[in-house]
This record gives sequence, structure tokens and C-alpha cells, in this order.
Amino acid sequence: MVEFSDGGAADGQTWLRRAAAADRDGDVAAAEHAFLQALLCDANLIDARFGLGVTYFRSARYGDAATELQAVVVAGAADGATCMLLGKSLYLIGRFPESAEAFELASMAMPLEGDSLRCYARARTYATMIAGKIEDALASYSALAGIEVEPVDVVIRDGFGLLSAYGHRDIAVRLGELLIASKPDDAVQRHLNDAVAGRAIDRVPPAYVEAHFDAFANGFDDKLVHVLGYCVPERLAAMVRRHRTSFDHVLDFGCGTGLAGEHLRPLAGKLGGVDLSARMLEQAASREAYDTLTHAEALAHISANPVAYDLVFAADTLIYFGRLDALMAAVAQATAPGGLFAASFENAARDFEILPSGRFAHAETYVRRMAEQYFELREQQAIDIRLEANVPARGTLFVWRRR
Ligand SMILES: C[S@@+](CC[C@H](N)C(=O)[O-])C[C@H]1O[C@@H](n2cnc3c(N)ncnc32)[C@H](O)[C@@H]1O
Repeated sequence: MVEFSDGGAADGQTWLRRAAAADRDGDVAAAEHAFLQALLCDANLIDARFGLGVTYFRSARYGDAATELQAVVVAGAADGATCMLLGKSLYLIGRFPESAEAFELASMAMPLEGDSLRCYARARTYATMIAGKIEDALASYSALAGIEVEPVDVVIRDGFGLLSAYGHRDIAVRLGELLIASKPDDAVQRHLNDAVAGRAIDRVPPAYVEAHFDAFANGFDDKLVHVLGYCVPERLAAMVRRHRTSFDHVLDFGCGTGLAGEHLRPLAGKLGGVDLSARMLEQAASREAYDTLTHAEALAHISANPVAYDLVFAADTLIYFGRLDALMAAVAQATAPGGLFAASFENAARDFEILPSGRFAHAETYVRRMAEQYFELREQQAIDIRLEANVPARGTLFVWRRR
């Protein structure tokens, strides 16, 4: 924490100096506070707007960064670097047409290179796609990207994800068709196309889950925990501990890389994990927290093990199941009377709906209705599950007790 010796009333310039000192110290909260105070003293202090924009960008608050940097541009005080940072901020919140314009403004002051050139070429390409001209966008991409050109299938695949996440589903559907035409056996893309097109699906195909998580396993922990702020395993385990602290046999249902292992181990006589992805299970094994790890479809696994567990723990796994009736019945059958069932869900307005991400969200009322014939609800908590397109995905944690 930065200590200021010149306390008392301060003017805008003093706050700016304080912000610069906090920034040098790496104290982001103090820098943000000081920049905001500087702007309270003088709303036209453009250095404070710029500083605040940079501070927000560093904290991954790209929407706020774009607002401040845009104010610098509007004031006519932006240099090439400011426009570039604005272009990146706008790209990271999916505002591709404005992002491309900001980069084009930057390019009048300095050449775009490296990451900025790559980002600009993508932003202009996605902006042209949003305007409905997919063929034109693809035809002009490589000239835009110059020496930073990326394989066009990567640009299309990322465009599919970004455009669907940022609300351009119709364009994403067309990109999805291009991708599947070039690779008809791609189970991952086929499911995502169904999800983005909003086709009626009541469960994510196991072939998708397996291929997706096998490909994602190596970077999973880093991305989820450090980039997307994922903390369901520890929060859900803490909820369980409030109700019971000792179990004979715990099943981590869709255990993934075993992020829950260290939280469940102290509670469990025997701790098992089950997952469809062999690569995720390899990561889980390396934690040495589990007694058994089973490579299987989790619903089939519990159905084959009646009354086997006194805790079934499903962190961020039931988002791969849409309809919950068969799932609740199978978990109930596998859980001993008095045992607990702990699970997280992503929130939806309808009973269940497939999201462009390829995952399901569920209405809290639907989840409770499906559970109540087998379980009594012990606790329920709201949670931000992870960042989705830079916005928190809202969810709910539940702990039930088997009747
Ligand atoms: C988002 S990850 C969460 C992993 C872990 N529970 C955690 O909290 O870190 C979802 C995991 O569920 C697994 N999964 C999804 N559907 C499954 C199913 N039907 N059977 C077994 N595993 C499944 C995936 O392979 C993946 O490892």
C-alpha cells in the first residue's frame, strides 16, 4: 500500500502524482483511486483518463478501459499507442467494428506490428463478417494481416467462438457450416453448431465432452483458475463442510483435473473420481489425492454403483446435462440415505437451455423441482462461476441431503 505524505486537500495534479507513484509500486487499487480523485478535481484532466484506461486494461476490465481511452480520443489527445490500446480493449469485449477503426486511427501515427497487427486484421475481418460479407472478409484477411497472417481455419474457428459469444449467432452459424464442411467428422464443432443454432438438445454428446476436454486438459487449470477466476471446487467443498465433515465414500462426478481433490481428501475415507476425458484424468492422477480414478461416462458409472456413496460432488459438470430427471434419479440411487449431493449450475430463465458455449444453463426452480423427490435442500448459494466473454457467468451452488 502506498503511503502519501502530502495528505489533506489535494488538487488534480497532486492526485496524478500519487497515481503515478502507486502505479510504480504496482498498487493497482491505489492507482485507480488516485486517478479517479484526479478526475473529480478536474474532469478534463486527460492524463488521468489515459492513466485510468491503462490501469483498467491491466486489470482486465476492458470495457472500462475502452470508455476511458475513447474519452482521450474524443478529446483529440490520443497518440498512436493510445489508439492501439483502445483497439485491443474493444477487441477483447467483442466490439470489432470500433476496434478496427481504432487500429486504423493508430496506423496513421505508427505502423501496426506483431500482436497489434494480428489483432487489427482479425477485428477488421470480423467486422466485415458482422456486416454480412463473410466471403469478402475471408478474401481480404491475408492482405490485412501481412507478415502476421494466421491460418485461415484458425481465424474462422476463433471467429465462430467470438461472434457467437458476443451475440452474432447468425454469422457464427455460417462460420460453423464452413468449419464442418471442411471437417465433417469433427464432433466438437458439430455440437457447437447445434448449440449456436439453438437446436433442441437435452444433453451434451459424450463424444464432444471427451474430445473437448482431451484437447483442453493441459491448459485447463491455468485458464480456469488464473484467467477465468474459477473457484467452484473450494466454494462447494466449503459448503459441504458446513453440513458434514466426514464421509465413507466420496465420488467426484466429472472430476476433471482434480481441482476438488485437495478439498475433498480430508473429508473422505475413500475418494473416487470419474470422468470421460482420459487426459483430464491423467492430470487428476498427478495430484495423488484420489484412491480411484475411472475413465467412464459418469451417469453410467453411478447407475452401476447403487448406494455406493455418501457424498456425490459435481462441480461444473451438470452443465453438460440438459434434462435432469434421469440424472437426479441415478444420483439418488447411488447415494446412501442421509448422504449428500453437492452440485453447481449455471443460471437460466427457462428450465434448461443450451448456450452458444455448448454448455447448459438451468433455472433454479427446475433444478429444485427435479431434486426434491429424492433430496432435501440443505443450502443454496449464488456464485460467479467463471468469466464468459469477459463477463461473470452467474450460477448457483446446492447441497442436498438424500432422504
Ligand atoms: C468444467 S470441467 C470441471 C472439472 C472439475 N469438476 C472441476 O471443477 O475442476 C467438466 C468435467 O466434466 C467432465 N464430464 C462432462 N460430462 C461428463 C459425463 N457425462 N461423464 C463423465 N465426465 C463428464 C468433463 O470431461 C470435464 O472433465
